[in-house]
Amino acid sequence: MASAHWSCLILALLSGLSQQLESFLEEKVHDIEVYSTKISCKVTSRFAHNVVTTKAVNQANASKEVSFDVELPKTAFITNFTLTIDGVTYPGNVKEKEVAKKQYEKAVSQGKTAGLVKASGRKLEKFTVSVNVAAGSKVTFELTYEELLKRHKGKYEMYLKVQPKQLVKDFEIEADIFEPQGISMLNAEASFITNDVLGSALTKSFSGKKGHVSFKPNLDQQRSCPVCTDSLLDGDFIITYDVNRVSPANVQVVNGYFVHFFAPEGLPMVPKNVVFVIDVSGSMSGRKLQQTKDALLKILEDIKETDYLNFILFSGGVTTWKDNLVQATPENIEEARTFVRGIEAAGMTNINDGLLRGISMLNKAREENTVPERSTSIVIMLTDGDANTGESNPSKIQENVRNAINGKFPLYNLGFGKYLNHNFLESMALENNGFARRIYEDSDANLQLQGFYEEVAYPLLTDVEVEYPQNAILDLTKNTYQHFYDGSEIVVAGRLVDEDMNNFKADVKGHGAINDLTFTEEVDMKEMEKALQEQDYIFGNYIERLWAYLTIEQLLDKRKNARGDEKENLTAQALDLSLKYHFVTPLTSMVVTKPEDFENQMDIADKPGEGGHGDDPLHGLPDGQLPPSCCTLLLCGWGPPLHHPSPRERRCHLLQH
Ligand SMILES: *[C@@H]1O[C@H](CO)[C@@H](O)[C@H](O)[C@H]1NC(C)=O
Ligand SMILES: *[C@@H]1O[C@H](CO)[C@@H](O)[C@H](O)[C@H]1NC(C)=O
Ligand SMILES: *[C@@H]1O[C@H](CO)[C@@H](O)[C@H](O)[C@H]1NC(C)=O
Repeated sequence: MASAHWSCLILALLSGLSQQLESFLEEKVHDIEVYSTKISCKVTSRFAHNVVTTKAVNQANASKEVSFDVELPKTAFITNFTLTIDGVTYPGNVKEKEVAKKQYEKAVSQGKTAGLVKASGRKLEKFTVSVNVAAGSKVTFELTYEELLKRHKGKYEMYLKVQPKQLVKDFEIEADIFEPQGISMLNAEASFITNDVLGSALTKSFSGKKGHVSFKPNLDQQRSCPVCTDSLLDGDFIITYDVNRVSPANVQVVNGYFVHFFAPEGLPMVPKNVVFVIDVSGSMSGRKLQQTKDALLKILEDIKETDYLNFILFSGGVTTWKDNLVQATPENIEEARTFVRGIEAAGMTNINDGLLRGISMLNKAREENTVPERSTSIVIMLTDGDANTGESNPSKIQENVRNAINGKFPLYNLGFGKYLNHNFLESMALENNGFARRIYEDSDANLQLQGFYEEVAYPLLTDVEVEYPQNAILDLTKNTYQHFYDGSEIVVAGRLVDEDMNNFKADVKGHGAINDLTFTEEVDMKEMEKALQEQDYIFGNYIERLWAYLTIEQLLDKRKNARGDEKENLTAQALDLSLKYHFVTPLTSMVVTKPEDFENQMDIADKPGEGGHGDDPLHGLPDGQLPPSCCTLLLCGWGPPLHHPSPRERRCHLLQH
């Protein structure tokens, strides 16, 4: 069938694989004219509400498939999708995943599958929908997603992928930012073009609480060369900003929900005792090891003299630079450089012994008072594979590590490349107050490693606790944090028991480098109302949605290490909230009933399943690269499927034909 062929072509092109298909498609592209693409972003107090609208018309004489794809941040939740054809709107509904899946399976078994919605790059996930549009008809796609922008290294960052694939008459990105604390800096840049070339297409400004960014290239500005018909717009559009911090904290209350932002500035750094536990198994040799060494050498340049450190190398066995942690004196740093330069890789992967050695070294230093009393400890583990010697049962390793750390300091796990069990690394880091990060195998891996280190390099407070009046607050999100790092932000949200309360007091307590500190924030509700009166600018219930977003995110994280009844309870809570607030989370799906066939035809917007992206074969691959074990596929198939596909198979596109 013609439409099936067309749909395959679009997918092939998306994956950037086939030059031949691409040139063939270029001729066909005129059939479907995308005449408008708008990305509208409203940000209120770091909570972003983004709407992507694309309008297209089928110029061909026959009905054609029109495809809409948007890449959105992995940390975002889709909240709405609608399809409008010739004035008739088909809405998307958020349903429990199992319910949605059943409908999807049914459609598949009847040979009526249309797109599924998954594939991902480093920071983004792809949402794809295709629909058949009659000759001469118009179609509008509208996707909404929401996200809490997190502060890293002193700024909030909003990532927009721009890839219209053709010249678009009416193309625009527009962002309105409202921050009650006042905006201190705002920047916008595009990876595909220098700002001066498209100077007039880009405007940005901020003053007081409001910021505005608009990017509106006309057709000529979109051309890749003056006579070209292909688009220059292909890459990332990134907006960054920060807010004023006259006071270390800021509390906002709307409709009975509050959010509390905490990011004090100018505190002295708490000295840290850091142990780098580095995988030097055979698979690390070559570029990965060189990049790791480059990153470590750079980190050594920045390390403060008050810090203590050591390197633990593991392959089949464990070797260490020093027997104990040593202070980062210039002489020791020089010696550390020589050590790092000499690291070589060979052998198996003994994660268990490597980690336990590092942890026991930190414990010993503390017991024997060989590190400063007011210092804090951190373990950073880097590996590129699964444990395959010594204790290699993941749950046993987790148990050993959990018992050894015993809640005393955070563990950060860096997974290098894609041949590893990310779920395991994530789960282990989360239960030890840290997080896991993927390091993508690419030319900039050393920068990714350094970038991660900078986020945790400057602890300003430890054992941070955010306290509210007893009995005044319900449904509080996480309010204790082991570390507060410079350039980040602690966000706590909750619900007031009594909406008519006149004022309340919030305390943040923590241990600083010199003494213990308490930051008190008095919240006067009358003042608050006045401050938030710019109602046309902000979307009304943003704090409630922010609260729901944060709560779901934390429930899903907690769920990763829960079992039995507790897991069921966490799942039930997260599911209830996802359904109530229309969030597409790993527990829900967006189901769109398409007009071609009311009974069966639907698209599903999914988020990758359990534990991040561990089971997604496309995850972590550079755009357009196939995983080694890919798979038969369905996205292209309108005909009866040959067999019942597994979820894994559905994720992959058959591109090898
Ligand atoms: C579409 O129809 C017009 C007029 O009926 C005709 O001139 C044109 O060749 C047709 N195009 C195609 C691709 O069939
Ligand atoms: C989804 O978007 C449509 C079109 O903008 C709108 O009419 C509808 O109310 C939205 N649904 C939700 C749940 O926000
Ligand atoms: C989960 O557990 C909490 C406390 O243990 C309880 O209050 C709540 O009702 C439970 N929720 C569900 C959905 O089972």
